[in-house]
Amino acid sequence: MTTTSTDHRADQDAAGSGGLRLLDVTLTLGDGDTAVTALDHVDLSVAPGEFVAVVGPSGSGKSSLLAVAGGLQRPTAGTVHVAGAELTALRDKERTATRRRHVGFVFQQSNLLASLTVREQLLLPLHIDGRLDNAARARAGELIEAVGLAHRAGSRPHQLSGGERQRAGLARALMTSPAVLLVDEPTSALDRVRSAEAVRLIAEQTREHRTATVMVTHDTAIMDAADRVHEMVDGRLS
Ligand SMILES: Nc1ncnc2c1ncn2[C@@H]1O[C@H](COP(=O)(O)OP(=O)(O)O)[C@@H](O)[C@H]1O
Ligand SMILES: [Mg+2]
Repeated sequence: MTTTSTDHRADQDAAGSGGLRLLDVTLTLGDGDTAVTALDHVDLSVAPGEFVAVVGPSGSGKSSLLAVAGGLQRPTAGTVHVAGAELTALRDKERTATRRRHVGFVFQQSNLLASLTVREQLLLPLHIDGRLDNAARARAGELIEAVGLAHRAGSRPHQLSGGERQRAGLARALMTSPAVLLVDEPTSALDRVRSAEAVRLIAEQTREHRTATVMVTHDTAIMDAADRVHEMVDGRLS
């Protein structure tokens, strides 16, 4: 593939405005006979304020897509741009810093820290970055309320239900108003009403904060809320 300098500038603009762009991304896991092509020449652009859903069977590469898009995993080939930075060109330390500043992850398992309360989970990333101020505290309160955990703000993960943990994980990911929000089957532990609320919150944050959002899901209600739906099959994206 040839890329003219004009195309290159257009790519930079798309990424530079805060969106997400994967260009010809391949990810091979393992080696030799056991090598798996988790991502096979994937192209994906998500503009700021856009909400994209990804569906596909188990093992098709959906979680790998999110891991590479957010810089948790380096692709074998191809480039990833996040919020104007080419993640794939950064050293590990810079990539981690870019991820912490610009990417919000919501995993299926909420990955909360056992020793921290819900409120502390939200404040920790800003504390690490030296950005913990009154505005951040206020936003934490608003998000905790928005996910219906106001009465749980002082609780630790072991005191929460699976659904409450998932909602705490969502609030934490939204805390930094990330340029890119990557959500992996977020509503598996939520009932229909809570699930609809979580999706509404994500859609709202996507519009308000101009977030480029990618959500992996099996939930048809979520697909309806998305601007676009892509299908992943054997590491290839429709
Ligand atoms: N650490 C790993 N080592 C080897 N293969 C892996 C690893 N993680 C995932 N895979 C394989 O990569 C493919 C895609 O996995 P994944 O991205 O988790 O799919 P999905 O999220 O759609 O279920 C699967 O075949 C899976 O078995
Ligand atoms: Mg998965």
